[in-house]
Amino acid sequence: MLFPMIVLGIETSCDETAVALVRDDRTILANLVLSQLKEHEAFGGVVPEIAARAHLDHLDTLITAALSDADITFDDLDAIAATSGPGLIGGVMVGMMAGKAIAAARDLPFIAVNHLEAHALTPRLTDNIDFPYLILLVSGGHTQILVAEDVGIYKQLGTTHDDALGECFDKSAKLMGLPYPGGPHVEKMAALCKDAEKAIARFPLPAPMAGREGCDFSFSGLKTAMRQHVENLPAGDLDPEDIADLSCAFEHKVSEIVTDRLGRAITDFKQKYAGKSLVVSGGVAANLTLRAALKTLSNQQDMEFVAPPLNLCSDNGAMIAWTGIEKHRIGQSDPLDIAARPRWPLDQSVEKTSAQI
Ligand code: KG4
Ligand code: ZN
Repeated sequence: MLFPMIVLGIETSCDETAVALVRDDRTILANLVLSQLKEHEAFGGVVPEIAARAHLDHLDTLITAALSDADITFDDLDAIAATSGPGLIGGVMVGMMAGKAIAAARDLPFIAVNHLEAHALTPRLTDNIDFPYLILLVSGGHTQILVAEDVGIYKQLGTTHDDALGECFDKSAKLMGLPYPGGPHVEKMAALCKDAEKAIARFPLPAPMAGREGCDFSFSGLKTAMRQHVENLPAGDLDPEDIADLSCAFEHKVSEIVTDRLGRAITDFKQKYAGKSLVVSGGVAANLTLRAALKTLSNQQDMEFVAPPLNLCSDNGAMIAWTGIEKHRIGQSDPLDIAARPRWPLDQSVEKTSAQI
């Protein structure tokens, strides 16, 4: 195999059309993300059909722009990687078809990337960390605690029984009248809270699953409690001070829940593995209160805390290209008739049992 290797990564599994070019020395040559937020905002969530059409409208322009940013041509590419699941199937198919077409036209290997694996491998792109490591993956669609043992080998320690954490942020935000996606708005409002202790006492919230065996999550009880608090406030538009207090109480409870579950996972991890790193990834990893709680937990448990930069925590093409590099350099690629997978758990042993993959 010739070095250096450059891989084109395409991400279209949700509402971001993203394209990147990454070199195997971990240099990101181009990394473009086109958010479809405006197109979905009015609906309060991602509309799959709109997302797929928007990917189709923008993907080829974005690929051309990425090549131009990196000052290279298709001739310089060594492989094409595209998200092939899990995700919204229409969008995934748009990205895969574009990737396969380039691979076929240029006679290049095509690598079908698991979106979750791409989140999981991001700290190897950003921080060059060694296997094994512990990952908390928290996004709009996923809440999982995993051990990354090697490329393609993951062990799931915990998952959610109902909502994903990002979804819980988004739904709670909606209850308070905040726009979609709610996570960043809840964080902004929580930062305006004048007295965190008072807010936490004023709006008591449950910590479902806390203290229980295992490392699984549940967020539906938290969401229900948020609804009840909102219903108990004066009707009509909420007072910004009330929103700030409730957002603050919510963020703290989320941090408490995640810390409890992850504390157990760390104990499990340390018993079975020699690794030292705790990685957080996915869109919710942008939350600074959560990050601070995870950093404290890592310090207490003598783990090294690794949090990729925010633009590489949320959906992006660089993580897809990097996963392509990791697989290509161990000789893995996929046939051009490989199908998209709306569900694709990282730990194959949970495929038939988990509702949240
Ligand atoms: O990974 P991501 O960009 O997309 C996928 O879901 O795959 O994650 C998006 C999720 C949304 O639910 C959004 O509300 C949440 O991440 N999010 C945040 C923050 N920024 C994004 N949640 C809490 N605090 C934030 N600062
Ligand atoms: Zn994601």
